[in-house]
Amino acid sequence: METRIQKAIEILSRSRLTVALTGAGISVESGIPPFRGPGSLWDKIDPMEFAHIDAFMKNPARVWEVLIGSMKTILDTARPNKGHLALAELEKRRLLATVITQNVDSLHQKAGSRDVIEFHGTFAKLTCLGCGHRTSSADITLTTLPPRCHCGGVYRPDCVFFGESIPLSALTRAQEFVSQCEVMLVVGTSATVQPAAMMPILAKQNNARIIEINPTPTPLTATSDLFLQGNAGPILTRLTEAIAIPAGP
Ligand code: OAD
Repeated sequence: METRIQKAIEILSRSRLTVALTGAGISVESGIPPFRGPGSLWDKIDPMEFAHIDAFMKNPARVWEVLIGSMKTILDTARPNKGHLALAELEKRRLLATVITQNVDSLHQKAGSRDVIEFHGTFAKLTCLGCGHRTSSADITLTTLPPRCHCGGVYRPDCVFFGESIPLSALTRAQEFVSQCEVMLVVGTSATVQPAAMMPILAKQNNARIIEINPTPTPLTATSDLFLQGNAGPILTRLTEAIAIPAGP
C-alpha cells in the first residue's frame, strides 16, 4: 500500500490537470449511508419503486415519506469529513480543477470546494411543479407531505431521479474536463451507474491516469492505473499532506 501511495503522490504532483469524480462513499464518513452494499439505501428500499420519476409523479406523498423525507433528515445535519476537506484543500492549492460529484448532499461545497459539477443535481433546492418557484430544502418542514408551494403545487428536489437525464450543463462541463484531464481521482463510487461510470473510461481513452480510492474493488478497478484500497478520509488526507506543487509546463 505504501508504494502505491507514493506512486499516487508522484502522479498527482506531476499532473497539470487533475479532476475528481466522487460518489456516495466519500460521504459515508459523514454518516450518510451509501446506495449499494450492506446497510445501504437500495438494500432497504427498491429504487424503481421510490427513486424513479414515474413513481414520484404518481405518488409524491409516498416518495417524500419513504425516501426524500428521510434523506432530508440526514442531510440537514450532515457535516463534511476529512475526504471532502482534503479535496477542497487540493483545489485551493490549484492541484485540483473540479469535483464531478454524483452526490446531492452539498458536502463538497460545505467543505470549501468551489468548482463542483453536480452530476445528479442537488438536494439543497426544491422546485415547485406548479409554478416553478425554487426554495431551499433546509427551509421546509416535513409536517405535511408532500411539501407544497404557496401556489399549491408539489415541491420536488432538484436531484436527478431514475428515468431523468443528467442536467445538460453538468454533462457538458464534465465531458470537457474528462477530455482534457491528465489524472482522474475516482473516490467512493461503485462505478455502476451510467453515464457517470463512463467518465473514467473516457478519461483513460484520452490518456489520463486513473487513481481509484475505495475500500472494495469495483468494475472500474481493472482499468484503474492505481487502486488505493481504503476509506476516502484517511487516504485523501495522506495524499493532500504529501503532494508537491506541480511541475511547470
Ligand atoms: P454506491 O452506493 O453505489 O457506491 C458507494 C461506493 O463507496 C462503494 O463502492 C463502496 O465500496 C464505497 N465506499 C464505502 N465507504 C467508503 C469510504 N469510507 N470511502 C470511500 N469509499 C467508500 O454510490 P455511487 O457510486 O455514488 O443516483 O452511486 C451512484 C448513483 O447511484 C447515485 O448517485 C444515486 C444512486 O442510485 C441517483 O440518485 C441518480
